Amino acid sequence: MRVSELVNEDASLVSRRCWSDAGVYELEKRGIFRRAWLFLGHESQIRNPGDFVQAYMCETPVILARGMDGGLHASVNSCTHRGLPVCRADHGNTKRFICPYHNWSYSVEGNLVTIPQESAVANKPDKAVLGLKQVPRVASWRGMVFGCFDENVESLEDYLGDMRFYLDAFFERFPGGIEFLGAPHRWVINANWKLPVENQLGDVNHGAFLHSAIIPREAQDLIEELGFSAVTRAGHGATFRLMPQGAPVDEVAWGMEGMGGMFGGAEVQEYLREIQSHAAERVGDIRARMKGLTYGIYPNLSFLWSNTSFKVSHPRGPGKVEYWSWAVVPADAPDSIKRVLRTNYSSFFGPAGILEQEDSEVWVQQFQGSNIDFADDRPYYYGLGLGEEAPHPELPGLVSVTANEFYARHFFRRWRDELQAVEGQS
Ligand code: FES
Ligand SMILES: [Fe+2]
Repeated sequence: MRVSELVNEDASLVSRRCWSDAGVYELEKRGIFRRAWLFLGHESQIRNPGDFVQAYMCETPVILARGMDGGLHASVNSCTHRGLPVCRADHGNTKRFICPYHNWSYSVEGNLVTIPQESAVANKPDKAVLGLKQVPRVASWRGMVFGCFDENVESLEDYLGDMRFYLDAFFERFPGGIEFLGAPHRWVINANWKLPVENQLGDVNHGAFLHSAIIPREAQDLIEELGFSAVTRAGHGATFRLMPQGAPVDEVAWGMEGMGGMFGGAEVQEYLREIQSHAAERVGDIRARMKGLTYGIYPNLSFLWSNTSFKVSHPRGPGKVEYWSWAVVPADAPDSIKRVLRTNYSSFFGPAGILEQEDSEVWVQQFQGSNIDFADDRPYYYGLGLGEEAPHPELPGLVSVTANEFYARHFFRRWRDELQAVEGQS
């Protein structure tokens, strides 16, 4: 089957095979994951020389480290002798990564330092060319570190483009910016990697239905009344409520970090009120009125503003995803506030989170639906709101009501084009 047969011209119809076919998955690796900027971690996790965290670029294991020179280094975690992982800790601080098989050792920057056996042989290997494979492009914006296997990729700032406007609505609200708190939750879901992405790129419409036990109908009515979806570039998108001019500070502030504001008690409410009362000075009037919901950054990074977490949907084949999820907090908030926000995140969107479990179950069932027999002539319908998105005088990108599925259509058009570009190449 050709890629052109999987997604129709306006992407209102998407084949079930996009979600389930092994050949499609191989094209995704080459067409998307080898060429895109992929999220590796946050600088707050690797503050000191020798600090490192593990990451993945699709299925490729990567070590993100702060070098002795203070720079950022991303090395493929695979020994150049026989391929074993040289780093087995999820995070830490070290001078060397030592392979367990024959103890070749590597610097945190990925250079090969010692080969214990070489003293016994006459021809010494050239260590300079035997370092860990380097991710050729590594860049950071607002502390968010990304890597790319394509040396010729555009700059990270250009790649993110106008998504920076929407990300800064959150990041820049806090005088000290944000930090990632602790190690990520990691868990495996029997689903295709794209559905978690689509869910958070713009699908806030399922809230009152799937999550009816938690999200009251009135809250969903408010999303429908005040909610927007924005697509700044195909695959990048944001959803948010835009509170009316003059809305009381509390009404904006306590939605800012979701339930944390409501359940966290007087201290966190006072903190959020204080932040919100300076928001317009920091991010301007229109962004100060935003109560963000969910964001997506192509291809597989998500941000849940309302429960302050970043998530990456790491593919593990067409039918499995390893989900990584970090709690995100204002860097200069008191520890007691950070604890409330982290508890808020994990209660709702950690692996046992009350909302996350409902979403995960849907993702599993969608993958099963994408595998059933005799239904290939019933592609999925993505046509809600077709053609209704439009530029907005004050907001970058194309904007529409949240019921418009244009965020997903734009994603699949980019997806189709990028797969077509490598189709037929070996
Ligand atoms: S496989 Fe790493 S030292 Fe031999
Ligand atoms: Fe959900």
